[in-house]
Amino acid sequence: MFDRPDTGSRAVLVHMPLAGPDQEDLDELRLLALSAGAEPAATLTGRLRAIDPRYYIGQGKLEELAETVKAHEAELVLFNHALTPSQERNLEKALNVRVVDRSGLILDIFAQRARSFEGRLQVELAQLKHLSTRLVRGWTHLERQKGGIGLRGPGETQLETDKRLLANRIRQIQKRLQHVEVQRDQGRQARRRAQVPVVGLVGYTNAGKSTLFNALTHAEVYSADQLFATLDPTLRRLSSGGLNMVLADTVGFIRHLPHELVAAFRSTLQESAEADLLLHVVDASDERMDETIAEVRQVLAEIGADRIPCVEVYNKIDRLEGVVPHIERGASGRPTQVWVSARSGAGLELLKELLEEILGGGVERRILTLSAAQGELRARLYREARVLSDEPDGAGGWRLAVEFPATARGLRHAIGDNATEAEHEGPLSVSH
Ligand code: GTP
Repeated sequence: MFDRPDTGSRAVLVHMPLAGPDQEDLDELRLLALSAGAEPAATLTGRLRAIDPRYYIGQGKLEELAETVKAHEAELVLFNHALTPSQERNLEKALNVRVVDRSGLILDIFAQRARSFEGRLQVELAQLKHLSTRLVRGWTHLERQKGGIGLRGPGETQLETDKRLLANRIRQIQKRLQHVEVQRDQGRQARRRAQVPVVGLVGYTNAGKSTLFNALTHAEVYSADQLFATLDPTLRRLSSGGLNMVLADTVGFIRHLPHELVAAFRSTLQESAEADLLLHVVDASDERMDETIAEVRQVLAEIGADRIPCVEVYNKIDRLEGVVPHIERGASGRPTQVWVSARSGAGLELLKELLEEILGGGVERRILTLSAAQGELRARLYREARVLSDEPDGAGGWRLAVEFPATARGLRHAIGDNATEAEHEGPLSVSH
C-alpha cells in the first residue's frame, strides 16, 4: 500500500508566512521535501500581508509561482503551510500541477517511514482523515498520475470511492488497531516475564536511528521467537557480552508537527515509553542540534518517557574533525553521552559495552601507574573511563585511580597490555 518514493519529482517550494520568512523553516521544508523523495528545483519566499481565501497567496505571487513552475518544468508545488481543501484545488487548477501542503508532505514521509504494522495503520488512518476533508474535489482538473508525493498511501483508489466507503475503511482500521494493541500487549508481557530489557531508539528525523539499528543488529539472526513480535520489523534482538536485549526503532521527530498528525506520531512512540533504556540519537553534524535535542526531550516528557534512563548517542562523528568515539559521564559516573558513527561503525563497540554496563554489569576500579610515554592511554582513560584521581608519580609519569564498566573489554585489554598495576587500595571490583 505504501509505495517507495518515485525519485525526483521536481518541486517548487513555497514559504510565505504571515510574519517574516524564517530561514530555518525554509531549510526544514527543503529537508522534508528531500525526505519525501522530491527534488527541490526552486523556492518562492516572501511575507504574506493577508491569507487569500481562494489561493492562500495573492494574485501577483500566484502569477510568479505559475511562471516559476513553468520555467523549471516542475511537477509539484509544496507549501510550507496548511492549505484548505479548496485552496489546494484552486491552486492545482491554476497551476496545473499537484499541490501538497505541509501536512500532506509529512504524512507522505510517515507513510514511507512507518515500518511497524501498527505505525502503518496509524498513518493510513491519519491519511484517510486528511483525505476525507478533501474528497469533494475530485481529480478531474489534473491529469491522473499514479502515485507520487501527496498521492501515496490510500490516495488514488480511495479518491474514486465516496465518503461512505471512506468512513467504513476508517472504522475497519480502528478495529484492526485495537486488535494490534492487544497483540502488542501480549508480546510486551512475554518479554517482561522473560526479563528481556527493551532499548528504545528515539531521535529527530535523519539523525541516523535506522542506520544505527541496522548496524547494531545486522549480525543478529532474526528469530521468529514469540518474544519478538513477528508483526513488527522495528523490534530486533541484540545480544552483547551474554546479555540479551530488544532494540526498538521508532519514527523520527519533526519540528512543528501539524496538529492532526500528533496522535499518529505519539502512538508510534508508545513502545519507547515503556523501554528500560532510551538511546536518544542526535545528528552531531547538524547545526540545529541543540534545538532538536530540546524538542525531543520535551515530547518524551509529554508521553511520560522522561522517567526512563536515557543516553544521548551523538552520531555521524565521521563528519566532524578531530572527534573520536568516547563516552561522557555525569557527576555520579553514570554515562550520559556516547559519540559514534553508525555509518563507519566507529564507537559501536563502546556503545554495546555501555548497554551492558547499564543493563547488566557492574563497575571495576583499578589503580595504575603510567609512564610519561603512555599519554595516549591516559587520554583514552579520560574518554572511556571515570578518572577518580590523577597525580604525577614524581618520575614523569602518573598514578591514576580509574573506574570503568566491568564490560569494557577493549579498555581492559589496553590497560592489561600497557599499564603497570599499582598496589591497590580498596576493593578492586565494585558491583552496583
Ligand atoms: P528517520 O527515519 O527520518 O527518522 O531517520 P533516521 O533517524 O532513521 O535516519 P537514517 O538512519 O535514515 O539516516 C539518515 C541519513 O543519515 C542517511 O542518509 C544515512 O546514510 C545518514 N547517516 C546515518 N548515520 C550516519 C553516520 O554515522 N555518518 C554519516 N555521515 N551519515 C550517516
